Amino acid sequence: MLQTLAAGGVVAVGAPLHAAAATCGAATSLVVPARGGFLGRLRPSAGETVVLDAGRAGALPRGIAHGPLAYRARRDGARFANPTLVVRRGDRLRVRVVNGLDAPTTVHWHGLTVDTRNDGLLPLIEPGGAYEYAFEVRNRGGLYWFHPHPHGATAGQVHDGLFGLLDVEDDEGIALRRALDIAPGAGETTLVLQDRRSAGRYVRSPAAAIHGFFGEAMFVNGSACATLDVDTRIHRLRIVNACNARTLLLGLKTATGRAVPFHVIGNDGGLLAAPVRTTAAFLASAERLDVLVDLRDAAVGDALVLETRAFDPMHAEVDMPADGDADAGHAAAAGADPHAAHGAAAAAVDPHAAHRASAAAADPHAGHQHGGEPGAASWPEGTPRDLVTLRVRRHVRVDRDLPTSLSAPLAAIDTTDARERPLRLGFKSGHWRINDRVFVMGETPIEVARGSTEVWLLRNYHTSMPHAMHLHGFAFEVQERETSPAQVAALAVDARGRLAADLGRKDTVLVWPGESVRVAIRFDLPFDGEQTYVFHCHNLEHEDGGMMLGVRVA
Ligand code: C2O
Ligand code: CU
Ligand code: CU
Repeated sequence: MLQTLAAGGVVAVGAPLHAAAATCGAATSLVVPARGGFLGRLRPSAGETVVLDAGRAGALPRGIAHGPLAYRARRDGARFANPTLVVRRGDRLRVRVVNGLDAPTTVHWHGLTVDTRNDGLLPLIEPGGAYEYAFEVRNRGGLYWFHPHPHGATAGQVHDGLFGLLDVEDDEGIALRRALDIAPGAGETTLVLQDRRSAGRYVRSPAAAIHGFFGEAMFVNGSACATLDVDTRIHRLRIVNACNARTLLLGLKTATGRAVPFHVIGNDGGLLAAPVRTTAAFLASAERLDVLVDLRDAAVGDALVLETRAFDPMHAEVDMPADGDADAGHAAAAGADPHAAHGAAAAAVDPHAAHRASAAAADPHAGHQHGGEPGAASWPEGTPRDLVTLRVRRHVRVDRDLPTSLSAPLAAIDTTDARERPLRLGFKSGHWRINDRVFVMGETPIEVARGSTEVWLLRNYHTSMPHAMHLHGFAFEVQERETSPAQVAALAVDARGRLAADLGRKDTVLVWPGESVRVAIRFDLPFDGEQTYVFHCHNLEHEDGGMMLGVRVA
């Protein structure tokens, strides 16, 4: 790691902070989750029922931008807003959600293995009502999160401020903190990224319904352009993309703009087996990224900026106007099987072959950046922005090295007898769809045998946009990415086209236009009876619009 920094000759640049903060104006201090307050860490005791009030946000730290709503909790005299629930793997979690909204809501425990009763699709909690979620936390240690999931109204409630975090601790996670001599708030910082418009409440325009909602600025733990004071040590950042729709290309740079490599150590499903060095990582809605930043060679006064870099957002919907009257041209091109429609005979053999040709012909940048309605153009998806500045304030002597091993390697999922299930992502007649279907409550087009293993082949059309596909109830293994766009392939870390953050286990995976992603899932069900879940795009506007299918495991 020292080598990393030496090789790049970076970090110790001694450049003034304002160089980095130029686009940011006056810097505020990042809200660091503490024992109370916004994102505060709340560790329930055994048998405790945590009460979460979904309602008006009320008093929040000065200067942070947050929606009008929050989950509030109280404990030992402390007040929390959107708490970070801290649990040990194997613990039981009991949460009573009280609905103080004027609309029905639910809570989904994103990434956790729970039964249908606790999964948050149903039942709806009516205004004034309450519901008790109670389950054992079975997942690997890692950063998970929770948010509303009332079908059709999820995007608005999340945007308006309803989300919280779940820090699942296990032996390996505790060993890592020990090895690095860090603790939450001291060498380890959680960053919740959400883009917002300056004006309060969520409004879904017709264009946002198709492309997703894009805010004007990024708020990290509620602050735009915040600064975090750090020591000269290895610092851990645990990042959640809580944006409704925006994908980020995260990277680090010095105050003078030089890229600084970092190590990916974990993702949605917890720690990887070993750190993977990289220079950039895509992070889509709902995905989590756990990284280590080595500041041991930095000098007091240095600054490192976490940024989102420029990339092609690939909103490549064909002839789809930004005003939302979208399906005319597209539906014609798509037909019943858009893969076939694009490439005639060639597509029958290799559905991607024809696409490559047509994609190459088209200017990949043409027609983009329609990403929304008037005003939204102030920050189109894929354009760079500084997110948070790490400012080195104190020199400390550290003798800790980057760990070479983080967790016991997970055995690859054995897919010898696995059923392969193709799932095509596309647009038709006003809706984004999976296998040409739109979600119908109560229907489960995906029927899976309990205990079986399946390989899901997620194929996105060329004339599409990226979709962040999320499965409830089960973590999966990303096995392979094929025909990835160049900007994605450039970050591959193995011969199967996988990215650093694809390793280990995932619950959400971004599938780019023209790309096929193969994921393996073991449908081991630790619950009696049949259970139903959903598989959907985590672009929340797509989800609300029905880009979701029911999954029945029996
Ligand atoms: Cu985080 Cu079904 O979603
Ligand atoms: Cu688009
Ligand atoms: Cu989508």
